[in-house]
Amino acid sequence: MTTYLTSGGAGFIGSNMVLYLLRSRPDVKVVNLDALTYAGNMENLKDAERDERHVFVHGNIGDRALVESLLEEHDPDYVVNFAAESHVDRSIADPTVFVDSNVKGTANLLLCCKKAWRDDARKTWKRNKKFVQISTDEVYGALGPEGFFTEKSPINPHSPYSASKASADLFVQAFRDVYGLPMNIARCANNYGAKQGPEKLVPLMIVNAINHRTLPVYGDGLQIRDWLYVEDCCRAIDMVATSGKDGEVYNVGCRNERTNLSVVKTIVELTNRKLNDPAINEELIKHVEDRPGHDRRYGVDPTKIETTLGWRPETSFEVGLEKTVDWYLENKEWVERATSGEYQKYYAETYKNRR
Ligand code: NAD
Ligand code: TYD
Repeated sequence: MTTYLTSGGAGFIGSNMVLYLLRSRPDVKVVNLDALTYAGNMENLKDAERDERHVFVHGNIGDRALVESLLEEHDPDYVVNFAAESHVDRSIADPTVFVDSNVKGTANLLLCCKKAWRDDARKTWKRNKKFVQISTDEVYGALGPEGFFTEKSPINPHSPYSASKASADLFVQAFRDVYGLPMNIARCANNYGAKQGPEKLVPLMIVNAINHRTLPVYGDGLQIRDWLYVEDCCRAIDMVATSGKDGEVYNVGCRNERTNLSVVKTIVELTNRKLNDPAINEELIKHVEDRPGHDRRYGVDPTKIETTLGWRPETSFEVGLEKTVDWYLENKEWVERATSGEYQKYYAETYKNRR
């Protein structure tokens, strides 16, 4: 039996990871710690509801007593930290909670793992334990039109979100350097797929298109992201956890660079075709005021994870985006709940001054 403690496992990537683990491994137990912020959604875990191998715990990664008790009770082999505030626009509006969850929360998890796994007198660690930090390509900052970031590129974040994630990475590295923490860091590209909260580009555009609402493209829309299908990302993260060389960083990208505008146009085309609805067309696209400090291009070189762990993305963008659109069309109740109440307030507030 292998035990994972996943934090943030009610969010987008975390819930896909929990379901991936339960699906692909009979001999697994997943202890899932999530604070259920606006981004956490228990509906994402519906398929794990009756699975005794999944233990959901409502709580904060910053809660020392709680994390210590979970590590003692379940003695996980892997602690995989997805928990974070993850939206750049929110970090621009108020960075403080990003410091609390992403930086202080990660530091607390690290400290608890050290306490549970390290014999300080002997300076030895329990065998077969590992801390896996889920990080982002955004910690490297923005690229020019040429080249890629490798794991050796310097960290140079711009947004408050990426600054908090970079800081978390540095804490993980510091625990490695000072105490010898067994660890890996996975720096992942922009994920898309089922269950992503509707504040992010892909689901926001799908939901708005279905409802004939404006499709708000920031600035000229020529910013570039490397779009990675979430199930490919989960497989990569599991490979890093189980086979990653101790102490290493792995970039998880898929060489699928697209401009935001082309992603939005593809979503328009797909939703138009699937709903046979001519009112969904490119006239819905509106260029609005740009995000301040908007990073022009992200792109990581995935050669290391490909050559050393044998990971390859399996889902092309065309197939992945179609599956994603289908999921949002088939899960109307999920969409309705995720876009009611708080979301309406957030949307009105965020987009009202974007002309
Ligand atoms: P998300 O916002 O959908 O989910 C985050 C989850 O963490 C939510 O369930 C939330 O309730 C939980 N959470 C937040 N603060 C917490 C705390 N203090 N204690 C416990 N739980 C807490 O995010 P996501 O898109 O699934 O991203 C997951 C991780 O992957 C994040 O660390 C993010 O930085 C990283 N990442 C995301 C992407 C992407 O494209 N989505 C790309 C690269 C890296
Ligand atoms: P997002 O999904 O927020 O991810 P990130 O900022 O972490 O890359 O945004 C993806 C890209 O889409 C980013 O360049 C900002 C842009 N964007 C828009 O143009 N309009 C929108 O309404 C949103 C949410 C994002």
